[in-house]
Amino acid sequence: MNQQRADALVLFGITGNLAYKMVLPALYHLTAAGVLDLPIVGVAKTDLDLAGLRDRARQACGDRVDEAAFAKFAGNLRLVAGDYGDAATFEAVRAETEGAGFLTHYLAIPPSLFATVAEGLAAAGLHRDARLVVEKPFGRDLASARALNAELLRYFDEDHLRRVDHFLGKEPIEDLLVFRFGNMFLEPIWNRHYVRNVQITMAEDFDVADRGSFYDANGTVRDVVQNHLLQILAILTMDSPPSTDARAFIDEKWRVLRAVRSIDPAETVRGRYSGYLETEGVRPGSTTETYVATRLHIDNWRWADVPFYIRSGKALPVTDLEVVAELAAPPVALFEGDLQPNLIRFRIQPDAGITLDVLVKEPGRDTTQRIPLHVDFTKVLGPMEAAYQRILADAVSGDPRRFVRFDLAEESWRIVQPLLDHPAPPLPYEKGTWGPEAAAALVPDGWHSISTTFD
Ligand code: BG6
Repeated sequence: MNQQRADALVLFGITGNLAYKMVLPALYHLTAAGVLDLPIVGVAKTDLDLAGLRDRARQACGDRVDEAAFAKFAGNLRLVAGDYGDAATFEAVRAETEGAGFLTHYLAIPPSLFATVAEGLAAAGLHRDARLVVEKPFGRDLASARALNAELLRYFDEDHLRRVDHFLGKEPIEDLLVFRFGNMFLEPIWNRHYVRNVQITMAEDFDVADRGSFYDANGTVRDVVQNHLLQILAILTMDSPPSTDARAFIDEKWRVLRAVRSIDPAETVRGRYSGYLETEGVRPGSTTETYVATRLHIDNWRWADVPFYIRSGKALPVTDLEVVAELAAPPVALFEGDLQPNLIRFRIQPDAGITLDVLVKEPGRDTTQRIPLHVDFTKVLGPMEAAYQRILADAVSGDPRRFVRFDLAEESWRIVQPLLDHPAPPLPYEKGTWGPEAAAALVPDGWHSISTTFD
């Protein structure tokens, strides 16, 4: 993988929503932290001039900015206003970056424009000495992801392509790997002999709000399962890489995804909250899901016969991302009382941490009780870096570890493809509930409740 550090960043879509909410604040923080100091050439079809762009960047960064750091960041901003279909736009980018050295082109724009921009860059010679970073979603299904990839490969080879999945920038997700392979006690039991099932819940208590048209064209499977949740699954279940380099790590994720069976629609529940069809941007008669729960199987020696349950939805009771592994019961029951299984809970957000649910003796009695042993990472270790900061820093440095190599994207689409080909009609659920009732029946002993915030 090419890991050349970029000397300038070209940000397509600099006046867009994603840039405003995520990319510009991340770039400011990286500048303030002394990690980045390079020209940032924004490109957009806009009436703003450079002063207007700086004002917008200032707003995007919120009230708590360090004036000197912001001045440095704003001083690095440049602006090229123009249409992505117009060769003059790319000539102007070339003029702005003349002699700058190696470039990172970051595409925070709708995916339908990725190929147009790649082609425009190539026509202006801006594909040489450069890498291309594209935001999600990468394709709508296996065939379109392959077609998009083929388009991009005309101008940038895989070594110079990076596909963003911002979950790979989340520190608690990286911690899954540290917890597994940095310690000695988990790996010996992290397999089909000791783990009875694993449940991954990504719940959001908000609805699709003003994202109606985006969401309706995608749905939960495309929006978070194909990418974010399958990446978490891969990190949770992969074998130890043979070395520390990024390629070895990515190869292991790919190897386990290869062993994940394509999802069976009969083991899946699709849901839609009531009122969704009235959302602005949602097509009349739409059958897009806002909730999905499914059972996954990994056909390899480590995980055969261990069910992995995934559920995610909008308008659920809480916002929470948590992995719960349920361990097998001890072979001999020596005690009485609460004999519930051990749980290992990886809480990813909002308050990252780990909880081990273990049995202990109840004082004054000969019975057991299950209690949580909990650590809240932020309380113990301090605040974490925002995911986008890590993604942007890597986009510039070239480290491929936190991006999605195409063969992983391809496997993930292969896994969800049956759900896209044969979607069952979405079942209704009320906002603020845990989705359609049928989802409860998917897990024989029921879903584990989500841990509440620990104080
Ligand atoms: C995005 C999805 O990729 O991830 C959203 O499009 C979802 O629908 C979001 O809400 C969740 O990300 P985070 O980092 O806010 O948990």
